[in-house]
Amino acid sequence: MRGRIVATGSAVPSRILRNADLERMISTSDEWIAERTGIRERRVVPQGMASSDLGTEAARAALNTAGWDALDLDLILVATCTPDMPLPSTACFVQRNLKASRAMAFDVSAACSGFLYGLSVANLYVGSGACRRVLLVGAEAMSTITDWTDRATCILFGDGAGAVLIEPTSDDRGILSTHLHSDGAWWDLVCVPGGGSRMPPSDKMLAERQHFVKMKGNETFKVAVKTLEATAREALLANGMDITDVDLFIPHQANLRILNAVMERLGLDKERAVINMEKYGNTSAASIPLALDEAVRAGRVKPGTRILMAAFGSGLTWASAVVKW
Ligand code: UT7
Repeated sequence: MRGRIVATGSAVPSRILRNADLERMISTSDEWIAERTGIRERRVVPQGMASSDLGTEAARAALNTAGWDALDLDLILVATCTPDMPLPSTACFVQRNLKASRAMAFDVSAACSGFLYGLSVANLYVGSGACRRVLLVGAEAMSTITDWTDRATCILFGDGAGAVLIEPTSDDRGILSTHLHSDGAWWDLVCVPGGGSRMPPSDKMLAERQHFVKMKGNETFKVAVKTLEATAREALLANGMDITDVDLFIPHQANLRILNAVMERLGLDKERAVINMEKYGNTSAASIPLALDEAVRAGRVKPGTRILMAAFGSGLTWASAVVKW
């Protein structure tokens, strides 16, 4: 037995922050951002809206599509690096909102790779027979950990959520493989240093803006290209597939130049990639399910479609998955 995605859903906040708006906030230009990242606009939550609000909306859309009742759910997983609170988990808030009282719920913490880590966990629970109906959400309010005075990072991130429903299948479709990797030696390439047990909240920590994302952009870029290529190749090899067997490539949406470099190295033509970062920026754990839902709604995903997913992010973490729809 393995897991099969039966429905998708997504949600983004209505407020759009365009590159032109950023030009008024920091020393940057629409041209620089578009050229260096591929991003033109991103969504931003209003004050008081949290990751679970977006995650709940995305989950409801998926449940409606599948015709499932929230009470059918056995397991709720939320991949996020912007939890509503340090505790309880964001998954417990989604469970409460959906009134999915039968489900167990917990978060998966792997930053931008979180959705693929969650897909792996869901697949194992479903494949072992421990769970029959799983909700996996990637939900982020990245704008709440973004330093809006730091032009090197604030241009990149956006808010949103995507959700998938997973049930067991014994046919040749479904989640064919997942490959997960981590290397904590690279923890400081992308991190939020303050606010946790290492550096608890204090006036000094806040004044030094340690509660916001810090990133070594250039180094991250280089590692991202290498790890994405390696984990994509590993996924193809494990499934006896060639790059030409991939119908759709759904990568984590961090930077268009990273993706162009990876696609060139893999020999994958751009028509087969689902890229929507120009509208949403880097939504971390939400980016793959958001792009997947968009591809499903656009009719790009049909029974038998072979999808390669790949992600990298803070940790460092990196991962890939092959799904046959
Ligand atoms: O999911 C999280 C993982 N993170 C990522 O995937 C991010 C990976 N890295 C990147 O996407 C890129 O490194 C960035 C887009 C963040 C930066 O692009 P870059 O080509 O690596 O630029 P850079 O940091 O090397 O900076 C080049 C120049 C610098 O000016 P000088 O020193 O050459 O005069 C920066 O100060 O660009 C300047 N710069 C900007 N200029 C206008 C940096 N940010 C901006 C900006 N607007 N927003």
